[in-house]
Amino acid sequence: MSEQEIKVPDLGGADEVEIIEIIVSEGDSVEEEDPILTVESDKASVELPAPFAGKIAKITVKVGDKVSEGDVVGMMEVSGDAGGSGETAGQEQEEAKSEEKAEEPSEAESADSKPAPKKKSGGSRKETVKVPSLDGFDNVPVIEINVSEGDTIDAEDALVTVESDKATMEVPSPYAGKVDKILIKEGDKLSEGDDLLEMTIVEEGGEEEEEAAAEPAKEEKAQSKPAEKPKRDAAPQPQGATYEPPAPGTKVHAGPAVRKLARELGADLTRVKGSGPKGRIVKDDVHAYVKSQLQQAQQGGGVATGSGIPGVKLPDFSQFGEVERESMSRMMAATATNMQRSWLNVPHVTQFDDADITEMESFRKAQKAAGEKKGVKMTPLPFLLKACAAALAELPQFNVSLDMERKEVVRKKYIHIGIAVDTPHGLMVPVIRDVDQKGLWELAAESAELAQKARDKQLKPAEMQGACFTITSLGGIGGTAFTPIVNTPEVAILGVSKAAMKPVWDGKEFQPRLMLPLSLSYDHRAVNGADAARFTSLLTQLLGDIRTLLL
Ligand code: COA
Repeated sequence: MSEQEIKVPDLGGADEVEIIEIIVSEGDSVEEEDPILTVESDKASVELPAPFAGKIAKITVKVGDKVSEGDVVGMMEVSGDAGGSGETAGQEQEEAKSEEKAEEPSEAESADSKPAPKKKSGGSRKETVKVPSLDGFDNVPVIEINVSEGDTIDAEDALVTVESDKATMEVPSPYAGKVDKILIKEGDKLSEGDDLLEMTIVEEGGEEEEEAAAEPAKEEKAQSKPAEKPKRDAAPQPQGATYEPPAPGTKVHAGPAVRKLARELGADLTRVKGSGPKGRIVKDDVHAYVKSQLQQAQQGGGVATGSGIPGVKLPDFSQFGEVERESMSRMMAATATNMQRSWLNVPHVTQFDDADITEMESFRKAQKAAGEKKGVKMTPLPFLLKACAAALAELPQFNVSLDMERKEVVRKKYIHIGIAVDTPHGLMVPVIRDVDQKGLWELAAESAELAQKARDKQLKPAEMQGACFTITSLGGIGGTAFTPIVNTPEVAILGVSKAAMKPVWDGKEFQPRLMLPLSLSYDHRAVNGADAARFTSLLTQLLGDIRTLLL
């Protein structure tokens, strides 16, 4: 075991970046490449990966600190020879970096390798702008095109915004000039070297620049041009708390930091009026928008507000008796927000059914000795996981998410299932991946391990992401039925209550059978009632005769 420094790696050209999030805590165990910090430059927010597998011994920075390549942000305890024989892991990092650098062309070489101008006429020339290096990413979707054909732009103006699963990046213009033709559309996937757009570049002292100089300043010019499609600039400035519905086709013009802030505050950027150049939204605009919405809510005093949701006014509880206040933990606040968001956004319906698990229970109990040998306890949960995986495969309309902005259904070709775990610090939902490909013992071991990690606050962010569906089992506690809230953006959740012996009519007489109550809540936009009844019927069938799980 050795202690190694965690250094900021190559930042892809950015000099100094701000730490906007610390993802790990001291004592956390991480794998190599697990994200530990999120940093943000004015162009992109990026997660910095752990350089080694090991334990986080110390974090020496805080949110808001500015760091550069090579700065130490913490220490890690690294086992084995991760540090290398006789040299530190930090040295290895440095060497790997300098090797990489040696392979990169020198600045002069890369300048030479730039495509030669296609056409030069007097003071201007045509150029096809290509996608530059995307910091190692490729096939990154375009989430926004920041310019329109005919726009006059400066070098370094954002052309398009792309978003990988790790970072949002703006692709800057390498030239000043006029946008002639945009060669891509939103949703296209870009890689380094792809054609982006055609531009007319104004050479110094060239005709077009002289023309431009005779005209009003660039931004005024852009705004005074007749708009080919509705532009935010043309829309009236919202007054006070007035709600301004977005104009059809409105594009949001904002950088990654502003988008992140908006996501954190829950602000819909299409409703925010930008005060920056060309209607660009800056952080102050987002703050002003949120402030106006809050004022509106308070003025409403419980009356329906802009979003149609009545505010809740708290009385002074101390008039009724002694009270004390304590701050919510971050997890409680986050859970509260998620629950409310889901409950308000999703039209919920709950379908109930009972599964006869008499035979399943005898089989499960018969596995006790085998379980003791393996050191794994077989509870009903692995059977539920297996049955849900089979039902998701049979009824794939439950294995989707809705993208209402694009009016698309996202169909998933994998079956990852979240399990709700009750912990002393709140509800956590670790995710078991590829449930359809795992056996009952493997699922029993993995669910027990993840539930324990949840209780010990050891879950990594990646272990709580990617679920297609969730199971929330209160069976070990009690209750006959409940209506769970869908864990959006999933579209269904299975609630499981306590199994109980019940008299079941077999056509001749009542038989004592062990019945397991199931409550399936679903998003009625994605799933219709008949399919929900099919899903629970299929589950009762599978759990009623677990041999069918093998088919
Ligand atoms: N009916 C009757 N008994 C049940 C049962 C059911 N539906 N489900 C589990 N049990 C039994 C188990 O067999 C076990 O009994 P045993 O020791 O006699 O074998 C006992 O209850 C405890 O099981 P548990 O340790 O809870 O294991 P599990 O695999 O069933 O559940 C978790 C694991 C993580 C799901 C569970 O511990 C948990 O945290 N549940 C709460 C989830 C929650 O809070 N949801 C609410 C979200 S809003």
